[in-house]
Amino acid sequence: MQKQEELYSGKAKSVFTTSNPDQLVLYFRDDTSAFDGKKREALSRKGMVNNRFNAFVMEQLEESGIHTHFIELLSEQESLVKQLQMFPLECVVRNVAAGSLCKRLGVTPGLELERPIFEFFLKNDDLGDPMVNEYHIRAFEWAEPQYVEQMKKQTFAVNDVLKALFAKAGLILVDYKLEFGLYQGQVVLGDEFTPDGCRVWDAQTREKLDKDRFREDLGGVIEAYELVGRKLGVEFDEALPI
Ligand code: TMP
Ligand code: ASP
Repeated sequence: MQKQEELYSGKAKSVFTTSNPDQLVLYFRDDTSAFDGKKREALSRKGMVNNRFNAFVMEQLEESGIHTHFIELLSEQESLVKQLQMFPLECVVRNVAAGSLCKRLGVTPGLELERPIFEFFLKNDDLGDPMVNEYHIRAFEWAEPQYVEQMKKQTFAVNDVLKALFAKAGLILVDYKLEFGLYQGQVVLGDEFTPDGCRVWDAQTREKLDKDRFREDLGGVIEAYELVGRKLGVEFDEALPI
């Protein structure tokens, strides 16, 4: 499947139409951004690493019965996906306190949460992705209640699968963000799952191995993403099936 016109260009990925109106090409660029686009840099090999990382995770989730938009890898930086009607929402689950939760509530970073915390954020960089609740979602019709329930259910199902997968690899899945959309009336996982949108720590040393390395200028960003991928079982050097 060849990409045709650029439909949308985000901070790290571009989306293209294909000859099939139900399918899109995701192009993972080397661009890296944080703080709602205020910090930006191109990091060599990032597109390839995130494309393969995402494909691996999406396939693991599909095998566990979670529906995703992922169809197949097309090239080093491209994947074919189903076109979803995206909800303008971000679903965050936290297993360990970090990031904005600590700033907002004064919680000590690294505190293990007995029960995971779920939060919705509005996907809007101009507003700084504010946290919203189900009353806001209903009032402004960002998603119908039945879909809100589905998003929560599936985000927790992803947690069960990935927390175990990361733990087996000697990693802690601290928190992550998912985005969902509708495909033929069903809530389906879209966007990506890569170290750009989650926090991952080494279980022994608690070293940060995710985009916090970029946010905090710690260096070795892509090396860390690749290390996480290899520990999980991503084969970065394997020839593509095409
Ligand atoms: P936070 O601590 O900044 O609220 O982020 C929680 C997790 O969700 C963290 O792994 C980063 C991810 N996230 C994004 O990738 N993009 C976003 O816009 C938001 C709000 C969170
Ligand atoms: N992914 C979000 C953004 O780019 C949050 C962050 O990375 O700081 O705005």
